Amino acid sequence: MITSLRGFRDILPPESDIFARVEAAAREVFGLYGYQELRIPTLEQKELFVKSTGDTTDIVEKEMYAFTDGGGREIANRPEGTPGVVRAYIEHNLGQTGRNAKFFYIGSMFRAERPQAGRYREFEQIGAEHIGNPAPAADAETISMLVRLLEKAGVEGCSVVINSLGCAECRKAYREILLSFLRTHAGTLCEPCKGRIERNPLRALDCKIDGPKLAQEAPKLALCPACVEHFDGTQRLLGAAGIKYEVNPNLVRGLDYYTRTVFEVRSTALGSQDAVAGGGRYDDLIRSMGGPAAPAIGWAMGVDRLAMLLKDKAVIDTAPKAFVIAAAKEAGDKAFEVMTSLRAAGISADFSNFALSLKSQMRSADKSGASFALLIGEDELKAGTVAIKPLKVKGEQFTVAAADAPAKLKELMR
Ligand code: HAM
Repeated sequence: MITSLRGFRDILPPESDIFARVEAAAREVFGLYGYQELRIPTLEQKELFVKSTGDTTDIVEKEMYAFTDGGGREIANRPEGTPGVVRAYIEHNLGQTGRNAKFFYIGSMFRAERPQAGRYREFEQIGAEHIGNPAPAADAETISMLVRLLEKAGVEGCSVVINSLGCAECRKAYREILLSFLRTHAGTLCEPCKGRIERNPLRALDCKIDGPKLAQEAPKLALCPACVEHFDGTQRLLGAAGIKYEVNPNLVRGLDYYTRTVFEVRSTALGSQDAVAGGGRYDDLIRSMGGPAAPAIGWAMGVDRLAMLLKDKAVIDTAPKAFVIAAAKEAGDKAFEVMTSLRAAGISADFSNFALSLKSQMRSADKSGASFALLIGEDELKAGTVAIKPLKVKGEQFTVAAADAPAKLKELMR
């Protein structure tokens, strides 16, 4: 038997309903905030991620599904959506449309991480990117939109953590200070960190092994006045929007492109993989990828993790309203016609197999969770009627003209 790959999974009902519900909530919220959908490819040139996600990140160093295709091209499955959005923004001049460049995407991302609860090799992200607005209002809007979306999806008990990583200017000085600290402590660092501190000393702060200790001991970043003002403005507006958050100077995030505000939404109910969503500003990325100087901010949420949080909540009732049964062999065609008329009237209807016994079809009707069974036997066929039998509530079976069945059911469902 061929099974699914490790870390790849089937999303079965009713979990698939939760995914659909979260996606629907997201589309509604994105509409309120002026975001348009951007559908980007799953495969990109590998170089896109090496240059944007960053070649010192865990994602690019060891988690990419990358391969050389038949034409000798280096290709990668997207590990995240931001690089693709940035590429599309540059490739199609999306800054020139006259509209705000606010985009959302929904789709699978791929990372060859060690699978565990809440961590998969293919997982779904809902992401948002707002390009072209440098003001703290964009930061506050983006974060509050994320919180509103989680509320709308029914998620409770999450906390918002924010930090500022400063701009290229404040980081330049800090890089040297941090690097000399790390060099003197190089003996105690893990092997990957030893290898990358010269290329990207900040990455050590995000290391799963060394990060927690360094967060206590390493020198802290001092923001320049402009970055202080930006971070203060963001917090003031978050407060005005009624968003509760906590500032955590140890939040560094695992991607290379961030500047200034970074944030994460966490849930203690998730265990070790506690990040429901994460994001931040990336004011220098678009220019560094060959585009115009366009500041940007965005986030992505993990739908698989949201589904874990929502799994005990009421799931959409997908049971059909009506279950149609042919109680005589020759009634099958009529039963099919009635079922068609129900659906045309907006009433969900299902059936099993009109050729089976009445008893067997009734059993299927009960199992389906339908509210009503509609039976057509010899008598009904002759009289042009349908027998309606309530399945979930007490009530007698009664007969109506077949043509009136949809209207009668609607009345009963009210
Ligand atoms: P990220 O923090 O790498 O950010 O991922 C965002 C979210 O995706 C995480 O908070 C988590 O919920 C989910 N996630 C990540 N990896 C996995 C996994 N292996 N299994 C299940 N869920 C996972 C980004 O991807 C950035 N592109 C966010 C961003 C957008 N920053 C600016 N704009």
